[in-house]
Amino acid sequence: MPTKVKIADVVKIFGDEPDGEALALLRAGCSKKEIKERTGHVVGVNDANIDVAEGEIFVVMGLSGSGKSTLIRCVNRLYEPTAGTIVVDGTDVTALNPKELQAFRRDSTGMVFQHFALFPHQDIRSNVSFGLRVKGVDPEARDAAAERALALVGLSGYENSYPRQLSGGMQQRVGLARALATDPDILLMDEAFSALDPLIRRQMQDELMEIQDKLHKTILFITHDLNEALRVGTRVCIMKDGAIHQIGTPEDILMRPETEYVAEFVQDVDQGRVLVVETVREEAATVSASATVADVLDTIDSRGSEAAHVVDSGGRPLGVVTRESVEQARARGDQQLGPLVEAVPVVTDDTILAKVYQLFGSGLPVAVVDTEGRLIGSVRPLEVLAELGRVEGVSEQLKLAKAKDARH
Ligand SMILES: Nc1ncnc2c1ncn2[C@@H]1O[C@H](COP(=O)(O)OP(=O)(O)OP(=O)(O)O)[C@@H](O)[C@H]1O
Ligand SMILES: [Mg+2]
Repeated sequence: MPTKVKIADVVKIFGDEPDGEALALLRAGCSKKEIKERTGHVVGVNDANIDVAEGEIFVVMGLSGSGKSTLIRCVNRLYEPTAGTIVVDGTDVTALNPKELQAFRRDSTGMVFQHFALFPHQDIRSNVSFGLRVKGVDPEARDAAAERALALVGLSGYENSYPRQLSGGMQQRVGLARALATDPDILLMDEAFSALDPLIRRQMQDELMEIQDKLHKTILFITHDLNEALRVGTRVCIMKDGAIHQIGTPEDILMRPETEYVAEFVQDVDQGRVLVVETVREEAATVSASATVADVLDTIDSRGSEAAHVVDSGGRPLGVVTRESVEQARARGDQQLGPLVEAVPVVTDDTILAKVYQLFGSGLPVAVVDTEGRLIGSVRPLEVLAELGRVEGVSEQLKLAKAKDARH
């Protein structure tokens, strides 16, 4: 894929005289801390070089203060880079005059922030079509574009609602729709999903990937969450103190960390803090061992599930009964549950998903238990496959690497 955004030798220093002594010290190899002490200037970005390919989701990851927002803001010159160039589609953005810059921002880029920044007194339609209004698009065309964008984010029918009537997740969708409505080539997303709770956040990640498959935008996506980075990123860039430590595919980052700092993040993955059962656990449809076939069908129907977990009087899992087997029993006029119960694997919240994946042979849901062995939820194979998605290969490799480690 051709390069869409070329970030070359970009430095951003904050302070009264950014391109003076502070820049000289940075060039001479001084640290961010040293420069701050000696000049009072703050290094935001230190010599960033990134080629973002057309159509990729390029994730910039790093802890708070590492320079992620500063970097993304340099791309559309919300921050003026102290040194270096930004080239988008062959155009040197750093050389644009104010008018050209305004047109570039308006026509080529869309931004989504952590805080939705919707206009509270405008309905969703006007919020989404805001950018088109600025562009001078006529009302009919911009309403149509707003509706298309809302459909993309799953919010058709909310055109006349007001932001306060929507949940946080829905408001963030509106923010995304607003960025998509002008059909920009490049989406700049700064912690766009960070304020959402985990379940909604995963849905948004999925939707972003779906939208990406459909529209092939080039997306610069910022997060401080490694799980999110690995999940949505075509490539991931790890930053610390304004400097880039590594750029690579999620596999590269996990399996071939190039600096000690990146290795620390990978360490977290090894400890199972990233890809764990807790992230995909669902409430289980549960029946007691004394339930009848009719009870089970009721439970399964009311939950819309394909199976129910059977628990003993202490809440411990005994196995699973499937809708299919229960329906067959009913057809036979058989009311007894016992013979229908099939054993399933049991895991805990901190089990690595890669491990659960191995237990999927039967296609039955897996039981999740607490430290006392009581059932607290269920994991469905399809859900985990979706969760693993792109990181599936990675977790497979991780598993191998861990097995190898264990042998040494
Ligand atoms: N407008 C500003 N003026 C002065 N210093 C700034 C400014 N914006 C950012 N900085 C400094 O630049 C560095 C990078 O900040 P930045 O906001 O880019 O970090 P970040 O990675 O986005 O962090 P977070 O995850 O908290 O959003 C920090 O040391 C910060 O203090
Ligand atoms: Mg930030």
